[in-house]
Parts: sequence; C-alpha cells; structure tokens
Amino acid sequence: MNPIVVDLGNRSYPIYIEAGIFHNTGFSFTEVKHDNVVVLTNTTVGPLYQETIVRKLSALGKSVSVITIDDGEQYKHLQTFEYIMGKLLEKPMGRDTVLVALGGGVVGDIGGFVSACYQRGIDFVQVPTTLLSQVDSSVGGKTAVNHALGKNMIGAFYQPKAVFIDTDTLNSLPDNEFSAGMAEVIKYGIIYDLAFFEWLKENKASIRAKSPPHIAHVVTRCCQIKAEIVKEDEKEKGIRALLNLGHTFGHAIEAEQGYGKWLHGEAVSAGMVFASVLSNMRGGISLTELEEIKDLLSFFNLPVSGPKEMTVGQYVKHMKRDKKVEHGHMRFIIPTTIGHAEIVNDVKDTELQAVLG
Ligand SMILES: NC(=O)c1ccc[n+]([C@@H]2O[C@H](COP(=O)([O-])OP(=O)(O)OC[C@H]3O[C@@H](n4cnc5c(N)ncnc54)[C@H](O)[C@@H]3O)[C@@H](O)[C@H]2O)c1
Ligand SMILES: [Zn+2]
Repeated sequence: MNPIVVDLGNRSYPIYIEAGIFHNTGFSFTEVKHDNVVVLTNTTVGPLYQETIVRKLSALGKSVSVITIDDGEQYKHLQTFEYIMGKLLEKPMGRDTVLVALGGGVVGDIGGFVSACYQRGIDFVQVPTTLLSQVDSSVGGKTAVNHALGKNMIGAFYQPKAVFIDTDTLNSLPDNEFSAGMAEVIKYGIIYDLAFFEWLKENKASIRAKSPPHIAHVVTRCCQIKAEIVKEDEKEKGIRALLNLGHTFGHAIEAEQGYGKWLHGEAVSAGMVFASVLSNMRGGISLTELEEIKDLLSFFNLPVSGPKEMTVGQYVKHMKRDKKVEHGHMRFIIPTTIGHAEIVNDVKDTELQAVLG
C-alpha cells in the first residue's frame, strides 16, 4: 500500500489508510522504531480497539503498556496531561519510548502534546479512530490542551512519526460524531477543492451509509489536501490558516457552551455558515453557493445556525481571545467561492452584528 506522505524534509512521515489495517498480517509498524511502546487511549476506545493494537505490537517484539484517560473534551486539560506524565514517570519510561495515540482528536491532541514535552520529546504515532481525527487532527502536528480561558491555548507543533488509519473503526462511531467529522470534510471542499465538494454532493447518501469505497475516498482526499497544505505552511503563517474556516465562530460557541456540549464539528458547521454569510454580504459567494453549503451540512444533520440563546457580545468576547487575533484585529477565513477561501482582518463590528444578530 502506498501511503500519503507529509513532506517535511527529515521530519516527513507517512499516512497509511486501509480498512482493517491492524488485521493485515503483511503490515508492520515500521515507523514504531523503539521497543518500548505506550498506547494512550480512553475509556471508550480502549475496550474496542486496544487489544488488537497491543497484540500486533507485541507480536513485533515490543514491550507494550496502556494508559487510559477519561473520555471527553472536558478532560483535554493540564490535569490529564499531568496524570499521563505521572504514569510515564512511574514506570519509568525512557526517551526510547514511542507513544501511540489511539482514539479521537482529544487523545491525539493530548498524546501529541505529552510526547512533545516528555523528557523534551519522544516519538509518537497517531491511530485516529473518529472521522474528524482521520481527516484532520491526526495530520499536521498541532497538539494542545484547553485552558478554562480558551481552547487549545497550551500546546506545541510536534509532528508524529506516522499516522495509521483503519477506516473500519468508523463503524462503531456514534452517528453524531460521524456527522461532526463531515463538517471538516466539507470544509476541505469549500476552502480548497470544488471538484471534491461536487463529489461530496453527488455521493452524500453513500457517504452517510458509510460505503467502504466512499469512506476510503473521503479520508484519502482529505489527508492529501491536509498534507499539501501542511507541506506549504507547517506553522500556519499563511495558507494553513484557511483550515480554520468556521473555527473562529465555532470556538466561541464551544467556549461559551462549555467544552463538550456542542461537538467541535457541530460548532465548526455553524461557524462555516456564518463565514459564508459574511462572505455573501461582502460580495463573495453567491446565495446559491450559500444554500448549497447549508444543504450539504444539513444532509449530515449538522447545525446551520448557532445556539439560539447566544448573544453577539458573547461571540465577540470569545473571538477576541482567539489565537487568530493579530495586532488587535480579529482574523476571519471566508470563502470567496466554493473551492477557494481567503483571510480577512478588516471585519467591522457592524458586519458581525449583521451576521450573528
Ligand atoms: N490538532 C488538530 O489539528 C486538530 C484539528 C481539528 C480538531 N482538533 C481537536 O480534536 C478534538 C475533537 O476530536 P474528535 O471529534 O475526534 O473528538 P473525541 O476525541 O472526543 O472523540 C469523539 C467521541 O468518540 C469516541 N470514539 C472515538 N473513536 C471511536 C470509535 N471508533 N468508536 C466509538 N467511539 C469512538 C470518543 O471516545 C469520544 O467519546 C477537539 O479537541 C479539537 O480541538 C484538533
Ligand atoms: Zn476543526
């Protein structure tokens, strides 16, 4: 199987995508170079998949232990980080340890951040098990935990050594989590790839039914796009910021509701609609395109408006704290047409009122 490669010079790494990859006897974890392995997972994913992974790694002669954390965005904080650090130190694990992050974006983000910091950096690999983590968070090296004052505010850029994606894991994923991942999938179409957006529209029923070839294409195309963008702009000085379409609004929703109430992808879905409305008001995307975006999101049961009770002031309070604020200006990503987006930093309060009010 030919992996997708994230081309970052001597930090390049492969993304393997295959249904049932861990049952494939011909496949070995070449990029897991050390003999000591810690699998980091959570109380939901562990019981489903850790045995398969542990068995596979043990069969390769690795010494494998498992650390399990509580399940939920509300645990993506420094206390969990410290808990994992404590477990690693208790054993104790040396620098010749590989951390395997088995789970969704929460396990991946926190596992990556632990790996960046433990003894100043150990190898880690991603085994993402949600659609969102397979198409987005496991690739690109952004790692973080949340702070009560802001999402992902404490973290590091730290690339994995490899990403192993078993698309079969999506069969156990709850429907709302699958939908949340689709928000990020649709995002790639809007910011980067009109043909992919059209393909999503034409194949939406098969995707929702999780037809294996369709899921394979969704995950593969998204990882290709993410790899291209990360290669261009690893540290988000330019084009990578486009991946934040809908996220400035979305993070405000997540923070105001308390992490975990709205799923990340749900908040991003509403946020992408706000960004599209803003674009339309500025003479960017047409009303027809706006409707196409809303229709596709709605097909996957994603919200196309924010929480009813949330005020403009509440949005603005969180958005001003966002990492995307530069020199006091809030930065927004807006689609110019489906398949293309741009960064703007001159959005007036009156425009926000009109979009959010
Ligand atoms: N690093 C990045 O570039 C990046 C990008 C996007 C999002 N994120 C982060 O990712 C997080 C969201 O990730 P997520 O949507 O994967 O959420 P998540 O990790 O909370 O997983 C969602 C839920 O599904 C469960 N689950 C995971 N895999 C499963 C499976 N195969 N079967 C059954 N249940 C399963 C989890 O235990 C959890 O309850 C957020 O914290 C967000 O900030 C990071
Ligand atoms: Zn996201």
